[in-house]
Amino acid sequence: MNATAFDIATLVAELRAARAAARAETDMLARARLLAHRAATLRHAWLRPEMCLPDAEQGFGICVLHEEPDHQLAVFVASWLPNRGTSPHDHGTWAVVAGLDGQERNSFWRRLDDRSRPGYAEIAKVGERTFGPGDVLAMPAGAIHSVWNDTDRIAVSLHIYGRHVNYTLRSRFDPVSRSEAPYRLATVEAAALSAGQS
Ligand SMILES: [Fe+2]
Repeated sequence: MNATAFDIATLVAELRAARAAARAETDMLARARLLAHRAATLRHAWLRPEMCLPDAEQGFGICVLHEEPDHQLAVFVASWLPNRGTSPHDHGTWAVVAGLDGQERNSFWRRLDDRSRPGYAEIAKVGERTFGPGDVLAMPAGAIHSVWNDTDRIAVSLHIYGRHVNYTLRSRFDPVSRSEAPYRLATVEAAALSAGQS
């Protein structure tokens, strides 16, 4: 396939085929990692400036490129403002992130408490990694990470989830107050963006 033949519809078709063939989450993550890497490598064929608009209130923009009618196989472009990011969070599903432009620092956290107290959570940072264009991060369901853009320019990444994260039971965590709370993203639909350009 040449670069000009690649688009998000191609990626979605490949993700559907991968899901049908995958025997377990680890298998799906391995397959999605390869597909995300190729989509990142071929980003100039499909990535548009209107997909990369940060949300000043949230600190980052989420452009939804695809989700199935039952919210599975969600594909987002995330655009991170300088010196902004997210608090630690999980996804409630598997997740694969591929760098498209700029640098993002990921911190990885481990849950320490026994989850017996609603709203209470202890987490500890266990690792950190900064990644850029073409780098891919694969996370199983239950992984906790936070993201920060340390640079002075917008960072952009491709995110693929087993299910749209606003439709999973997932949390954001505050390691200082030792709390967890439901976490929903403000999103923009790619279809709405193109419709607004008429
Ligand atoms: Fe995340």
